[in-house]
Amino acid sequence: MIQTVALTGATGFIGSHIVEKLLSSGFHVRALTRSPPAAGQRNGLTWVRGSLEDESALNELVYGAQVVVHCAGHVRGKNLLTFTQANVEGSLRLLNAAENSLSCKRYLFISSLAARHPELSWYAQSKVAAEQQLIENASSVSIGIFRPTAVYGPRDKELQPVFTWLLRGLLPQTGSSATQLSFLHVYDFAEAVAKWITADVHNETPYELCDGRPSGYRWSDLQEIGESIRHKPVKVLKIPLPLLKSIAMLSTQVSRLTGKEPMLTQSKIGELTHIDWSATNVMITSNIGWTPTIQLERALRDGLF
Ligand SMILES: NC(=O)c1ccc[n+]([C@@H]2O[C@H](COP(=O)([O-])OP(=O)(O)OC[C@H]3O[C@@H](n4cnc5c(N)ncnc54)[C@H](OP(=O)(O)O)[C@@H]3O)[C@@H](O)[C@H]2O)c1
Repeated sequence: MIQTVALTGATGFIGSHIVEKLLSSGFHVRALTRSPPAAGQRNGLTWVRGSLEDESALNELVYGAQVVVHCAGHVRGKNLLTFTQANVEGSLRLLNAAENSLSCKRYLFISSLAARHPELSWYAQSKVAAEQQLIENASSVSIGIFRPTAVYGPRDKELQPVFTWLLRGLLPQTGSSATQLSFLHVYDFAEAVAKWITADVHNETPYELCDGRPSGYRWSDLQEIGESIRHKPVKVLKIPLPLLKSIAMLSTQVSRLTGKEPMLTQSKIGELTHIDWSATNVMITSNIGWTPTIQLERALRDGLF
């Protein structure tokens, strides 16, 4: 039987790739959108107009779906409340719709590696709170949790400028030179979601996901990768903490004037300067058989970002 997947966040960077992967794998997708969907129909895709705040839209979204993939989330916000409303309350409202649907049996929550350290930022705190409360409140629906590291690839806006500058010969470094970073290509991430659905393994323990490079990347590794692709030097530009703090203050003030969520806040600096963002795929690989195929160097060399 063809499975129907109810998906949130389909208009965003990662969610748009999940839509493509699920459709090409033969699933039917019901996707939530806050804005009018583009004209034209795609086979297997039904847009449902509404938001995480709208209970009737969520009921419509999950109608007839066996699986929920909850990818919508706030990655920017001016205070804890903004994150809590979207990432915790929105996730619980969607769980409630899934529980009431009778058809939904499984719910995949796209959390973040940041949830490993809730003390670092409001974002991290909201993701771990959502994970815990979903598990506590679920009864007929089984919960799965993905904690991806930094995801990049076509249509990404966050890391794309960093990699573009790296290939032009300049690498802005936030945090210490000893920092361990990790990355994951969005094609591999979308593949992991499809694999989770078909594997049908029930496990609430969060799965970390990364591109599988042992111990991750130091800033000097990124510099070396850039140099080997360019065949020219890459200059590392260390951004001092006081400068980061000033940019965060400015960004917060600008956001008050424009009404848009700030790019950088004092809270986000905790994540940016954290020393260990290495991750491991051991648990997800052994449970559902997913392994990543795209390492950062290849993606940068082949322009897959
Ligand atoms: N990008 C990464 O490196 C990364 C790493 C780890 C985890 N994640 C997680 O992955 C998910 C997707 O991230 P992304 O990078 O794709 O972010 P994104 O491009 O900003 O997309 C966010 C999506 O969530 C939707 N959304 C936000 N608030 C909503 C609400 N109240 N109601 C309905 N839809 C709402 C947005 O809809 P609109 O288009 O209408 O704004 C958009 O579709 C997030 O949960 C994020 O925490 C991302």
